Amino acid sequence: MRITLSFAATADGFLDDRSDRRLMISTPEDWEAVLRLRARCDAILVGAGTLRRDNPALLLRDPEVRARRAAAGLRPDLTKVTVTRSGRVDPSMRFFTEGDADRYIFSEAKIDGVEGIAEVISSDGSITPAFIVTELERRGIRHLLVEGGAETLRMFLDAGLADVVRRAVNPHLRLGPEKGGAQFRFEPPQGAACTVEHLGGMEVTTCLLHPDTAAEDLRRLDEAVREGFRCTPCASCYRVGAVIVLPDGRAFRGYTHETSPTHHAEQEAVRKALDAGADLRGAAIYSSMEPCSQRSSEPESCSQLILRQGFARVVFACYEPACFVRCQGARMLREAGVDVRVYPELAGRVLEANAHLKG
Ligand SMILES: NC(=O)c1ccc[n+]([C@@H]2O[C@H](COP(=O)([O-])OP(=O)(O)OC[C@H]3O[C@@H](n4cnc5c(N)ncnc54)[C@H](OP(=O)(O)O)[C@@H]3O)[C@@H](O)[C@H]2O)c1
Repeated sequence: MRITLSFAATADGFLDDRSDRRLMISTPEDWEAVLRLRARCDAILVGAGTLRRDNPALLLRDPEVRARRAAAGLRPDLTKVTVTRSGRVDPSMRFFTEGDADRYIFSEAKIDGVEGIAEVISSDGSITPAFIVTELERRGIRHLLVEGGAETLRMFLDAGLADVVRRAVNPHLRLGPEKGGAQFRFEPPQGAACTVEHLGGMEVTTCLLHPDTAAEDLRRLDEAVREGFRCTPCASCYRVGAVIVLPDGRAFRGYTHETSPTHHAEQEAVRKALDAGADLRGAAIYSSMEPCSQRSSEPESCSQLILRQGFARVVFACYEPACFVRCQGARMLREAGVDVRVYPELAGRVLEANAHLKG
């Protein structure tokens, strides 16, 4: 999933003031640009603090964009998402009452009165950005826009899960510590590719925190998917292929049950790489399916193996279907700081390879 953080700040780094009314930091030109950015995303997320303070509707305003989405079989508005520990969200908020959108609430508490208008998603532990991203991705979200507030932006940034940060600063607005409310400062890290533009008096910096690797990812993932077809179909396993790519460009391949009836594709590829003397720290593994998170026939799961070997990236096409167990591989890897990328455009072929397991 691609994750964009977007916010508007005063010259001294505040997202809001302490008054009762909603502070507009953006100029009309900048606000128009934010609406255009929304139109390129699938879902929009704000923290419950922002819902309570600003009561935003989080809609797409352009009728053409809404009509285009509807024609493509989507709800006209972006999927709306919020996150709360306390459960203090009210069904009368505009988040719930305005627009035609799917709505998800990630909540640690029970929430009454939202049945039929929103899905409440809870976790067996605390709600982490990795959990949010994984659950949204499972529901088909490919581009998430996080619009604040401060705690929520910080949470995604600190977890290393932001791909792009859009910071719009109004240089004419200063609040000072007495009037200033929520504060969020973002300084582009070294190596980020940033552009600056001026929009109606706002200084807008857009930083690409991770290079776009989609073309190479798809090429390698396609190899992994083809590798999966080499496995003989059996009733108790998925046919999966894996390709490991080392930082020096060397590659190792494997598929389910290639040398042992208990081996998964990732294990087969790792074994070949280790036999060749490779150091897997910092390497990428492309697997046609989400690496497993629990095993009964082997001492460790593929996700544990990937973490133990120090892989930096995991790329896969298809979340593991719930045929055998509820897989938590993607979440587990993301929570450990691994860069996990999913390309569902190749998932159809993975399901085709596994058609023998249908029903
Ligand atoms: N200028 C801008 O671009 C912009 C954009 C958006 C918002 N804002 C401003 O930002 C301010 C709000 O910022 P904020 O930092 O106070 O609030 P926030 O980030 O909007 O929301 C924080 C709340 O989100 C929930 N939350 C955060 N992380 C969570 C986690 N890991 N698990 C479960 N729940 C989690 C908690 O809700 P509970 O308290 O319910 O447990 C927490 O109190 C407002 O003043 C708003 O106007 C400005």
